[in-house]
Amino acid sequence: MSEDRIPHLFRPLTQRGLTFKNRACVSPMCQYQAVDGRMTDWHYDHHVRFAMGGVAIGMVEATGVSADGRITHGCTGLWTDEQIAPMARVTAAYERYGAVPAIQLGHAGRKASTERPWDGAQPLTAAAGAWPTIAPSAIPVRDGWHTPKAMNEADIERVKSDFRAAAGRALAAGFQVVEIHGAHGYLLHSFLSPLSNRRNDGYGGDLEGRMRFPLEVASIVREAWPAHLPVWYRVSAQDGVEGGLELSEVIELCRRLKAIGIDLVDCSSGGISGSPSLATVHPGPGFQVPFAEAIRREAEIATMAVGFITDAHQAEAILAEGKADMIAIAREHLADPAWTYHAALTLGAENPHALLPHLYHWYLERRAALTKG
Ligand SMILES: Cc1cc2nc3c(=O)[nH]c(=O)nc-3n(C[C@H](O)[C@H](O)[C@H](O)COP(=O)(O)O)c2cc1C
Repeated sequence: MSEDRIPHLFRPLTQRGLTFKNRACVSPMCQYQAVDGRMTDWHYDHHVRFAMGGVAIGMVEATGVSADGRITHGCTGLWTDEQIAPMARVTAAYERYGAVPAIQLGHAGRKASTERPWDGAQPLTAAAGAWPTIAPSAIPVRDGWHTPKAMNEADIERVKSDFRAAAGRALAAGFQVVEIHGAHGYLLHSFLSPLSNRRNDGYGGDLEGRMRFPLEVASIVREAWPAHLPVWYRVSAQDGVEGGLELSEVIELCRRLKAIGIDLVDCSSGGISGSPSLATVHPGPGFQVPFAEAIRREAEIATMAVGFITDAHQAEAILAEGKADMIAIAREHLADPAWTYHAALTLGAENPHALLPHLYHWYLERRAALTKG
């Protein structure tokens, strides 16, 4: 197939020394099934479904760089070496089926210490094992939530070194892409948003001050990650709340991220006031794509679009129109772990069966030949 007839979704992308075989990525999805931060068999089963379905990149859920950085007791972590081995099983499965394993590293900040979503997602009580939370300022997410401790310089240094150590463990576990979680109201986003950052030292105030901590974390992770492998960053492109973070400010952040060597911005939105990200509540198909487009154009950095992208033609149009470089799909992957394979059939990509495990090719190719005949 000549280059210009290959669907955009199936054109490889090379970043640094790594080539993604297509443009589809499993978006990070917390499973709340970890024990003391360690992945369980559920995580393995969950990811193997995707690994076998033709996706280029499988991204593991928001993983706490410290125990207090988890959202719930069931979240994964990388703050001790014992957490590496169960993750290495998952990365090996992705590699076995020709996909790139990625991981999102984060700190939940003032949104830590909460119940699992199906238990209500409310702050944990002391009896349920609540732990102290930290944030740029001592402002709770809303009334009745934990009042976080305003971080002092020692806390800031501790979180930076936790990110460095967790990145080292992620590498030891076999991940090839690391994404910094800078979205959804968690710690890095809460430094950036004027609603949650009221500091009057060098880490607050104007945009320069509010960007400082997220940029320092990004630099540290970039330094800790091998030069031949990409580092990505997920933003909330706007707060979508009165007085909150604006897209223009996030574009400036992305320019600075590019300057320190971040390779792609994953464009989500919302989450500062305790709600889930806008991506999980807003019903409009592809409604966050304009953020990916604006950041790509204005900050001249590769972007990933996410949020209510479910259809192969929709994904193809986003890429063909130059609005993003990658497509992340979360919930549709739960319903259809072979989403990429089905997209290849829909878009008429060459040799679609090659996206599935090789032991299946012969049968599927033969069936296709019989149908044609
Ligand atoms: C069960 C579930 C868990 C999620 N966990 C994370 C997470 O760990 N990190 C993150 O940045 N976003 C998380 N999200 C948001 C998704 O990555 C994605 O941005 C959002 O679901 C919109 O994409 P979709 O319409 O394809 O589902 C989660 C979403 C769901 C449904």
